[in-house]
Amino acid sequence: MKAVVYEGENRMRVVDEKEPGSTGARDAVLRVTTSAICGSDLHMYEGRTALPEGHVVGHEIMGVIERTGDAVTSIKPGDRVVLPFNIACGYCYNCHRGLTNMCLTMNAQKPHAAYGYAGMGPYGGGQAEYVLVPNADFNCLKLPGRPFDSWEEDFILLADVFPTGFYGAELAQVAPGKSVAIFGAGPVGLMAALSSLIKGAAEVYVIDFVPERLEKVKELGATPINARAGDPVEQIFALRAKLPGLRGRLRPGEDKLQGVECVIDAVGYQARDDQDYAREKPTQVLDNMVKLVNPAGHIGIVGVYMAPDPGGKTAQAKQGVFALPMAELFDKAVTVGMGQCPVKLYNESLRDLIIAGRAKPSKIVSHRIAIDQAPEAYQKFDQRVEGYTKVLIQFPWARAA
Ligand SMILES: NC(=O)c1ccc[n+]([C@@H]2O[C@H](COP(=O)([O-])OP(=O)(O)OC[C@H]3O[C@@H](n4cnc5c(N)ncnc54)[C@H](O)[C@@H]3O)[C@@H](O)[C@H]2O)c1
Ligand SMILES: [Zn+2]
Ligand SMILES: [Zn+2]
Repeated sequence: MKAVVYEGENRMRVVDEKEPGSTGARDAVLRVTTSAICGSDLHMYEGRTALPEGHVVGHEIMGVIERTGDAVTSIKPGDRVVLPFNIACGYCYNCHRGLTNMCLTMNAQKPHAAYGYAGMGPYGGGQAEYVLVPNADFNCLKLPGRPFDSWEEDFILLADVFPTGFYGAELAQVAPGKSVAIFGAGPVGLMAALSSLIKGAAEVYVIDFVPERLEKVKELGATPINARAGDPVEQIFALRAKLPGLRGRLRPGEDKLQGVECVIDAVGYQARDDQDYAREKPTQVLDNMVKLVNPAGHIGIVGVYMAPDPGGKTAQAKQGVFALPMAELFDKAVTVGMGQCPVKLYNESLRDLIIAGRAKPSKIVSHRIAIDQAPEAYQKFDQRVEGYTKVLIQFPWARAA
């Protein structure tokens, strides 16, 4: 089968890989219809992780079940499913609490397993024609409809970015009437904006440097903030100071609340320097969030911070160690939540919002490609050129079937 493998810094390659062989009693094999490229894959592509060369990548996967092991009871060949990117057992202490992002049994090295990802266990990725699904009863979300129907491009986003954006909004305690700022207008930031609007936020600002992505922010109904036009924190302070509705209802002392109550990091450790987009500054978003969050506000970090990072600029950065303005955080009495998204906590509800026509996340999809075009798509997506925002690898076998 064709599969995308990591070949070394800035090189992905499409190779002929062995199909998943014998299926364990609780496993299944999925024939992939759509697999997406994620901002998380770029950390590996750029050589910023410990991923071994030759590993099949891809953790955003949907398709049709090809075969199942003898002990699988709830999923059968022919079922259309999307896979949460977390691989989980369903019976450990954390899985029991719904924290499939911290499953204690599926990865011998540490909590958390995933498809085709550095440090997340030995599992092969799904940017491939077939993928092995461990514990299939637990790790599939059943979908209505047929491959390549009008939901295909919405449902694929349930594997990661829609639940992850929603998780960012949960961690930042977004609720009706709240003010929200999101750093990063990549797929995760855009899904955090959509989720914040679904949760009823009154103001949603999204900060980025990339014009096409800021356009998508507007399309979703949020307010784009172009970081090239000056300090994004100051821009939001200034915008809020001018909102007549806000000024007219302030109680004594509220003029101190210049910022927003909920802030989400959808960028992570490869953040760019506000002064110079060409340079990396791993703490840029963290620093901005601390300034922008109002006292007693909430910060949700879903942008990834990862070690070891062979490309880190200092010995500490290579280990993911960064300085934080702790005193200001403490002084503001802020809550901070972070981590990989426990996709299974949210994917069902979000699927049903899609089915009901109340969410159309596929608005962010920019490119649809065949697997042979993946290396070129990685390069363009990595450079954020030509509007590359969310790339779907489509396997057209099911269109013909
Ligand atoms: N927690 C999770 O479960 C989870 C899941 C998926 C992705 N992620 C992570 O979320 C992050 C975003 O993913 P994505 O797919 O949207 O990636 P992406 O790389 O496409 O988007 C990141 C965006 O951030 C922007 N950016 C860079 N520096 C910035 C700054 N200083 N201020 C504002 N914007 C800045 C970039 O221009 C880019 O548009 C990545 O770190 C990814 O690994 C986490
Ligand atoms: Zn992803
Ligand atoms: Zn578990």
